[in-house]
Amino acid sequence: MDQSVVTVRELRKTYGAFEAVSKLNLNITSGEFFGLLGPNGAGKTTSIHMMSSLVRPTSGTACIFGADVVKNPVDVRRKIGLVFQDSALDRQLSVWENLRFAGLLHDLPFKLVKDRANHLLDLFNLTEKKNVPVLALSGGQRRVLDIARGVMHTPKLLFLDEPTIGLDLPTRRNIWRYIHQLRSQTGMTVLLTTHYLEEAETCDRVAFLKNGNLVLEGNPKQLVAQLANEILEIEASEPNKIIESLNDHLGPALQEFETLFFKLDKTGEKNLSMLISNLKEKFESKLKRVIVRQPNLNDVFLWVNFK
Ligand SMILES: Nc1ncnc2c1ncn2[C@@H]1O[C@H](COP(=O)(O)OP(=O)(O)O)[C@@H](O)[C@H]1O
Ligand SMILES: [Mg+2]
Repeated sequence: MDQSVVTVRELRKTYGAFEAVSKLNLNITSGEFFGLLGPNGAGKTTSIHMMSSLVRPTSGTACIFGADVVKNPVDVRRKIGLVFQDSALDRQLSVWENLRFAGLLHDLPFKLVKDRANHLLDLFNLTEKKNVPVLALSGGQRRVLDIARGVMHTPKLLFLDEPTIGLDLPTRRNIWRYIHQLRSQTGMTVLLTTHYLEEAETCDRVAFLKNGNLVLEGNPKQLVAQLANEILEIEASEPNKIIESLNDHLGPALQEFETLFFKLDKTGEKNLSMLISNLKEKFESKLKRVIVRQPNLNDVFLWVNFK
């Protein structure tokens, strides 16, 4: 049996002369937790909207469980759950009424709506807010309810577009706990977009978009391991002088304002302490911070955009 949940071929979207997504190719298999990453404007939402039949592609194809998004949009929508970047909740209605409405949209019988709503409210710790209007919920509770709304019909594929944007860390952690509970209960495939890269480190696979192009794809841990053994991070005034002095030894540096990042591989390690002590001697007054640390997905992202 074909295990492919999302099959995207040469998918493209243009607005006039502007290309928002260029010839995207993606395969996502059953049960995968897949992250589509990239800065604002990279084309993440446009890609998700094409895959969920909300935006018509300019060219190329996208199939969801074998159903073509242009030829069989109704089929596609039945199989997917969508949590938009902007809330889809009716703020005047209560928590329960919002879930009930989502159930009605998917033709679920009343008994099933009740059972699922109660289950999700319990799972997401919202039971005591059942009869409260959405406008009286906190931002985090609203986001959780948005997710509950998106999974009322137990979709086999869930699109989550920046689900935790603007939320504090404990709330973000809670939301992830809920999503992983749902995944383990239902085997649901998840396509996530985010620019909180630490959240994407738990994905099975990620793809980086840059100006509508897929520039890197892989398992996050492998991508991090392939990037470098360690990262040397230096904060200094006049960082250009430091780049000049270290370039020959450590290769190109990535610069963000006064901070420099150098990739270190295993072979360079033995000379490193000498390099750093020389550096301290030479630039003592200019150095603000020197650290050697493990690389992370954020570094992968920075280097992708540096190329
Ligand atoms: N309806 C539209 N008309 C014109 N340009 C659009 C439209 N929708 C998106 N874009 C442009 O396409 C690019 C990608 O947008 P989007 O997919 O929302 O990016 P992301 O979700 O990665 O932040 C942006 O430059 C955006 O301005
Ligand atoms: Mg977006």
